[in-house]
Amino acid sequence: MKICRNMIFWISSSLFLASNFLFAEGITKEEFSSWWVGYRSDPNVPSELRTMEDYVVNSGVLPHASDFWNSFNKYNIQQITLYGYENFKVTVTRNYFTWVVNANHGYSRNLLRIPSSSLVYLPPEEMNKVHPFFTPEESMQFNMTIRNFLSYILSIGGAPFLEKLQEPMIGNPPFLLYQNKRVSQDIFNSLLEYLAVTKHCSTEKISTIIEIGAGSGRTAFCFLTLLPKVKYVIADFPPALYISQKYLSAVFPNKRVMTFRPFNTFEEISEEFQKAEIVFLTPDQLKKLPKKCGDLFLAIDCLHEMRPEEISRYFNEAERLCSYFYFKCWQTTVCDGNFYSSESYPVRPRWKVCFKEPCFVPSDFFHALYEMPNANNKN
Ligand SMILES: C[S@@+](CC[C@H](N)C(=O)[O-])C[C@H]1O[C@@H](n2cnc3c(N)ncnc32)[C@H](O)[C@@H]1O
Repeated sequence: MKICRNMIFWISSSLFLASNFLFAEGITKEEFSSWWVGYRSDPNVPSELRTMEDYVVNSGVLPHASDFWNSFNKYNIQQITLYGYENFKVTVTRNYFTWVVNANHGYSRNLLRIPSSSLVYLPPEEMNKVHPFFTPEESMQFNMTIRNFLSYILSIGGAPFLEKLQEPMIGNPPFLLYQNKRVSQDIFNSLLEYLAVTKHCSTEKISTIIEIGAGSGRTAFCFLTLLPKVKYVIADFPPALYISQKYLSAVFPNKRVMTFRPFNTFEEISEEFQKAEIVFLTPDQLKKLPKKCGDLFLAIDCLHEMRPEEISRYFNEAERLCSYFYFKCWQTTVCDGNFYSSESYPVRPRWKVCFKEPCFVPSDFFHALYEMPNANNKN
């Protein structure tokens, strides 16, 4: 019975993934809106997701999204409706930052070049594990990538952090066991981001993090686990916002959460915002926050999938709201017909470069951290 269900998932999710390439071209906000008007009454659309999406469609938020993300959002909403929130770590996160790719891909190239003499041993029952929704071939490739990623993380001194981090079971994650703990791509990628930021920016300077385009909330999970006193604000579109809100509220049940809701002025929410430890907003709501209410602004694997005017808006917001800005992007890519390279981003001359360098994982990404002067002291 289990095998049958898995097989149906492989077939249906593979067909669904294949069909995705047909609309990865992008759809306009008008096409997205008219699709949503018909789709919203599907009884399997979760009600919190319906509320968020209605707001996005009816309150002028859609112009913030690229055509590329309109099509992915449509696809991801369909996946959640079909397979449920319960499976988000094997469905929608494959469009966020879970990579099921071969050895020559720009994600895994460096990892798969690690000499076998430097690889950690994982027993056959781990290396041969087949993950839900993955074909056996995808699982083999995936397991090899995780084993190599683990070896890399250990080689850079990640062991003490892995003792504190473990992939939560919520969302049906693909994971391997290492020393009786669940390790995953999400844990490793988020740890690399944490280590990169904190190498150059003392954790004492980080009280509030604002992250745009947070996907499922994997980076937030890592920072909030390793820095439990930090306040975390996420600004994203649904369905990512729906997932990160539900997920982080569940993995941190004792934290005060300000869930998404429409508001006109900051005064309306200021008390709740001040008290909250995790806050969820749509992209348009960020502009209502008071200046310098954050310390660290994060934009991971999202800027290069936006329009130039949206990137520009976020660079203004990063400086208005925070003192440090970390972002991570493809070294070169094209979105909605716009070409981006590591030199395309509107970094201000007055910002101090803490670092800007290629990533080891994903191999074809770069990442950078800037210290931004107080917006009042612009030079
Ligand atoms: C490729 S996913 C990366 C997710 C996450 N940062 C990670 O690395 O796991 C891109 C994310 O950007 C979000 N996004 C797209 N356009 C956006 C915009 N204009 N403002 C905020 N988030 C946006 C998507 O909803 C999605 O969560």
